[in-house]
Amino acid sequence: MEFVGLVKELSGGVISRLLGVRDNAPGRLPDNELFNLGTSITSLVRLGRPRLAAPQVAKARSAVEILAGPVRHAYRSDDASTFPGRLRVLGLSEDEAVGIVSAFVIAGTETLVSYVPRLAALLFDDGRLPGLAADRSGLPDAVNEGLRYTAPSPMMLREATAAGRLGGVRIRAGDRILLSTVHAVKSLGGFDPGTPIPAAARQLWFGAGAHFCIGMPLAMAEINCALTVLLDEYSRRPWHIRSRAVSRNVLIPHYKALELARAN
Ligand code: HEM
Repeated sequence: MEFVGLVKELSGGVISRLLGVRDNAPGRLPDNELFNLGTSITSLVRLGRPRLAAPQVAKARSAVEILAGPVRHAYRSDDASTFPGRLRVLGLSEDEAVGIVSAFVIAGTETLVSYVPRLAALLFDDGRLPGLAADRSGLPDAVNEGLRYTAPSPMMLREATAAGRLGGVRIRAGDRILLSTVHAVKSLGGFDPGTPIPAAARQLWFGAGAHFCIGMPLAMAEINCALTVLLDEYSRRPWHIRSRAVSRNVLIPHYKALELARAN
């Protein structure tokens, strides 16, 4: 079984249903393609360059327009129970609704497609699957430690609105600031679910303050659900990782493929 493709389908399916894109909506993309659409946009981002060039903007716009069809359809219909319909009732414009839905698709697929297979591989490589499959009490610590160790949203980007100093560094208005979550949390050490995470670092991988991840409860539900299935399968008949391939030149590190197979 190829696991990365399965997580693409899970996260894409959850997000399109959450966003009210009906299964029969005109132009609706297959669930597993939402991830590819998201990465085609985020791959345009360069950490050191705060602006996109005109051809990049055109590329991102055409990717968003692929998604936009079903969103515009839901927005224009009388049905206020869908996410785009609710945004209309709240007074947001159609283009704003398309933008918000795109942000959810990107945030809600790339992080999970990165994290869930990486966690499965970490637990397998570390020999932790038999113990966890037999006793699930360690699952919350394993999930949190995996989030700390992999930091699926590794950087947060900001633009300084005014000049000032931050941690002794002089900042000018308009400077791009990279908040490197991955450096902050990885410096705490290697993957070990038995070591408590210091309170100051807890949940930093979901951000902090006004932009704290709005999808955290959903993300945790999807992670726990996927892990429970993997552990149940392991209890029935142990599996191992037959082969793996890593994606190169991507913003968020992830496996391109993770092939799981039953032991003979
Ligand atoms: C393991 C999974 C996830 C991780 C590690 C993660 C991490 C983050 C982080 C660090 C931020 C803050 C970004 C910043 O301050 O610049 C954020 C924001 C956000 N996340 Fe997540 N996220 C995950 C899953 C999800 C899911 C499943 C959804 C969709 C429901 C989602 C939707 C969002 C949205 C919409 C924001 C922007 C919030 C705002 O700016 O107010 N995330 N996420």
